[in-house]
Amino acid sequence: MPLKKILCIGAGYVGGPTMAVIAANCPDYDVTVVDINKARIAAWNSKSLPVYEPGLQEIVEKQRGENLHFSTDVVRGIEESDIIFVCVNTPTKTFGLGAGKAADLQYCEKTARMIKEHATKDMIVVEKSTVPVRTSKIINEILSHGDSPHKFEVISNPEFLAEGTAIKDLQNPDRILIGGRPCASGEAAVAEVSAIYESWVAKENIITTDAWSSELSKLTANAFLAQRVSSINSIAAVCESTGADVIKISEAIGADPRIGAKFLKAGPGFGGSCFKKDILNLVYLCETFGLPEVAEYWGQVIKMNDYTQNRAVSRILKSMFNTVAGKRIAVLGFAFKADTGDTRESPAIQIVESLAEERAEIVISDPQALENAQQDLKEIENVSFTDDPYEAVLGAHAIVIVTDWQEYKELDYGKIYSSMEKPAQLFDLRNILSSDELYEIGFNVHLVGKKSKVHKGS
Ligand code: NAD
Ligand code: UGA
Repeated sequence: MPLKKILCIGAGYVGGPTMAVIAANCPDYDVTVVDINKARIAAWNSKSLPVYEPGLQEIVEKQRGENLHFSTDVVRGIEESDIIFVCVNTPTKTFGLGAGKAADLQYCEKTARMIKEHATKDMIVVEKSTVPVRTSKIINEILSHGDSPHKFEVISNPEFLAEGTAIKDLQNPDRILIGGRPCASGEAAVAEVSAIYESWVAKENIITTDAWSSELSKLTANAFLAQRVSSINSIAAVCESTGADVIKISEAIGADPRIGAKFLKAGPGFGGSCFKKDILNLVYLCETFGLPEVAEYWGQVIKMNDYTQNRAVSRILKSMFNTVAGKRIAVLGFAFKADTGDTRESPAIQIVESLAEERAEIVISDPQALENAQQDLKEIENVSFTDDPYEAVLGAHAIVIVTDWQEYKELDYGKIYSSMEKPAQLFDLRNILSSDELYEIGFNVHLVGKKSKVHKGS
């Protein structure tokens, strides 16, 4: 029997890894990932993948050319496929009605129109991109309107992977969520999508529901996760003023199973391409449906995040005698979290921009994100880049750790201290180091949500 053909439109952080894992677990499916971005597809077909994720390279190299293919031929992909996953970007709208809040659905809509034009048979269209509730209805209307001889069933199957752990999350998901129309053909399509995942995910971990609940569950999950980060960061501010320790508080409250231990790490504020955009999307939905109180409630999560990022910069300035002009500052880490090269909405961007405005001389180091960092900061003059953290800190007045890379826990801080200007300031915005040990070495140490340890005379 010929292999069933899956097409994925959008070869980004979600499309590439997700399809690689489906291909690896489903030998009965032939998987093609297409994108209009030629450079991205060329990279997927090369040794240097466009996305850095632990474990990804191995899977892609094993499946590519077997049952996993990357191509720019979107039309042919649609013509030949049985099931299409839509994994295109859904950024925040930057223009017109809802600018700055609503999701920009133009890429989803264009994809739907392409599918309608080039489909050669009845088809299941799986919405994997994160979208506002009821988008499946819009896509369904586009697909079924007019003269197409084919029937389409639109299924919502949001993705919950986190960057840096994408392969682990995809191989062993907490749950798979699949939503469809409550009718016989909707249920049949849900079952067909479920069958793909059942190749490696236990059936009890596959939740099936209606499409709108599925769409809104995705926004809700991200809003709840981001809310936890903002909540703990708000408590970190209280700790710095009072002398309590936010790490101990996270431990104490996380031991209550009703609260749970995850997503309670105070830091420089959440980054990444989705938390902010998805909450803004939720806020806009609430406003549109006449729920201003609900909109305001969720908007506060973003306000607290902005406050957290600004507070990090104020603390650096205040601890450095209110001026950083002409001072060398080493920024260790530019990715929005460890184990990714992604810098979208990274707190590092705002922190570096603010320090550059104060005329600091900034040197940025990151094991995976320097290419993106250079792109993000191309308008800024007083920044330089090195992949060697020891070079970055040479002659620096301060180190700011922005990303929680494992290797920053393992640096020789004694050696680093000797190579720096004094007083040597260390701002660990991720609380990955021991403030006592660093203080002993001679640093003035500033952890998040903890009183600074500063040597007398500095
Ligand atoms: P991305 O920007 O990395 O990738 C999207 C890709 O879609 C781009 O390469 C773009 O060129 C391509 N594309 C756009 N229009 C196209 C078209 N008409 N035809 C072919 N290709 C087209 O985005 P991403 O990070 O992979 O996110 C994709 C979606 O998944 C978003 O809705 C996002 O919210 C959601 N999501 C992302 C993550 C994550 O960790 N990044 C996790 C869960 C869900
Ligand atoms: C997040 C969700 O965790 C995924 O489930 C979701 O699929 C994804 O968004 C998405 O929709 O894009 P991601 O943004 O990749 O994944 O990474 P997270 O681990 O959630 O971290 C987000 C940000 O919060 C990072 O900047 C991280 O450093 C920060 N964070 C996280 C904290 O500051 N403290 C914590 O305790 C946890």
